[in-house]
Amino acid sequence: MKKLFIRTYGCQMNVYDSARMAEVLAPLGYAETSAPDDADMVILNTCHIREHAAEKVFSELGRLRKLKVKRAGAMVIAVADCVAQAEGEEILVRAPYVDIVLGPQTYHRLPEMVARASRAGGRVLDTEFPAEPKFDHLAAPRANGPAAFLSVQEGCDKFCTFCVVPYTRGAEYSRPAKAILDEAAGLVAQGVRELTLLGQNVNAYHGEGPDGGIWGLGRLIRELAERQADLLAIRYTTSHPGDLDDELIAAHRDVPRLMPFLHLPVQSGSDRILAAMNRRHTANDYRRLVDRLRAARPDLALSSDFIVGFPGETDEDFQATLALIANVGFAQAYSFKYSARPGTPAATMAGQVPETLREERLAALQAVITAQALDFNRACVGSRFAVLLDRPGRRPGQLQGRSPYMQSVFVEAPAEFLGTMQTLRVTRAHVNSLAAVIDGGLS
Ligand code: SAH
Ligand code: SF4
Ligand code: F3S
Repeated sequence: MKKLFIRTYGCQMNVYDSARMAEVLAPLGYAETSAPDDADMVILNTCHIREHAAEKVFSELGRLRKLKVKRAGAMVIAVADCVAQAEGEEILVRAPYVDIVLGPQTYHRLPEMVARASRAGGRVLDTEFPAEPKFDHLAAPRANGPAAFLSVQEGCDKFCTFCVVPYTRGAEYSRPAKAILDEAAGLVAQGVRELTLLGQNVNAYHGEGPDGGIWGLGRLIRELAERQADLLAIRYTTSHPGDLDDELIAAHRDVPRLMPFLHLPVQSGSDRILAAMNRRHTANDYRRLVDRLRAARPDLALSSDFIVGFPGETDEDFQATLALIANVGFAQAYSFKYSARPGTPAATMAGQVPETLREERLAALQAVITAQALDFNRACVGSRFAVLLDRPGRRPGQLQGRSPYMQSVFVEAPAEFLGTMQTLRVTRAHVNSLAAVIDGGLS
């Protein structure tokens, strides 16, 4: 057996991709290992979204170079996905010990790449966007526990002016519904009970249905719930407000196993900044959308992404963002300082905001979000809900899962409850998690 180490950066789709890469390499005799030190092959599965994310890859490559020298060169080093797609040539120049550079759409060809790289001097750069999607060449995934990801859509056509994703992942592509339903059936047959449908712009999903029509995400979720009675929880991420249609809102109303949680990035509460970001909606469009969602599913918890210090952002713009947060009320949110990305339109816009101001705004925004998250979590104390305990907790004797509202929940429970759905009663709230006790038998 040869040892394969994969380090995954970035979003959930990279987690999905890493699992698929390991599966593609298994027939070559590669088995995954938990550290790079004695690995025969190392894959860095990378993220290009912010400068910091991309830099981490080059410092990790520096460490890998030393390991490779220690092993007298007997280590295949591959850089995959988004940094590879964006900076492929540069990686080959800056890091001559890297053997393979591959983009997110070509990893089904990894076996050939490894074969080429093993020949003397054979370095490989494969950052094509092949006409035939990689999914047509991938075998059915192996489940790795009771919760799983499933990529249904990839790429993005939105071209927000700050974002690299349309360049790294390519144009929007929706997998045919049948392929998704089959993959889901295979996962459920292996014991998966919670499925998160993934896409860079997942609610833009418009895949070919088995009936020859085009299915949206709402239809796909309905069919999935209907066909897979053993699937206890369905989630999806990440959505764009502009693509959230009536059918998907109705799915939140009608499909109880579609969890009452939605990650719906808004980025800013200022119409001026939203326009400069090319988000194609206003702050009030977002407020109205949230109202409609809450009318369909009153307990829906919302999460979002925010960027502070986008070029030209004034204090007034920033106050508009804080006002939107106060109006909407988020259960959680991610927030980022604007990071100029090479090749994106915003990188060369006038009015770049100084770092100190970006930091100040980030701290102010995070304080508000933290307070809202804590309020939301506190309001859950005393409630009961069914939670799939999908992993060990932080401490011995603990198991962990996600509440319907996506909070991490920790509970003292016997190890044999791992992978089961239990009714829990929430006893304590923290900013990022809940503590609970087992409240009854199987739900
Ligand atoms: N498909 C995802 C995009 C992932 S990026 C989506 O559409 O939500 C996740 C978040 O990173 C974005 O929502 C945005 O808030 C943030 N982000 C993207 N580009 C950024 C940049 N250049 N600087 C700072 N944050 C950025
Ligand atoms: Fe990036 Fe999301 Fe905008 Fe697409 S919709 S360009 S992935 S931020
Ligand atoms: Fe990063 Fe690529 Fe995901 S840039 S956020 S890993 S799509």
